[in-house]
Amino acid sequence: MSEIAAWHQVPGAPAPGSRLGLVDELADGAAALHALGDPAQPFRYILLRSGERIYAYVNRCAHFGVPLANKLEHLGVKPHSSIHCCVHYARYRWQDGYCEYGDCVGESLLAIPVSIVAGEILIAEQAK
Ligand code: FES
Repeated sequence: MSEIAAWHQVPGAPAPGSRLGLVDELADGAAALHALGDPAQPFRYILLRSGERIYAYVNRCAHFGVPLANKLEHLGVKPHSSIHCCVHYARYRWQDGYCEYGDCVGESLLAIPVSIVAGEILIAEQAK
């Protein structure tokens, strides 16, 4: 089991309040891959949109701790339903990141709490 149990424990995790993107950059049912911070060891994350809801996860598979995909075209996306890792195809639920199929069934992606302020997706300010 990984020693990293929450998004803020990932190396390079940005502070609460940091901007992750713009709601309008993401179509309904779309996914996006982004990175922040040190290019040598970026903090990689995934944004998913369902209507006005935005879900954010660390781009780190619960199986081997590697990105689910480095390019969006390699990420498996079933809009509003699931995403899957391009390495061994673990499938995660869209709404909560729970792994429902694959080698890490029962584990979850590391969810990043978000708030939306004036169309900006921010890491929510909340107790760690
Ligand atoms: S690394 Fe993602 S399923 Fe194995």
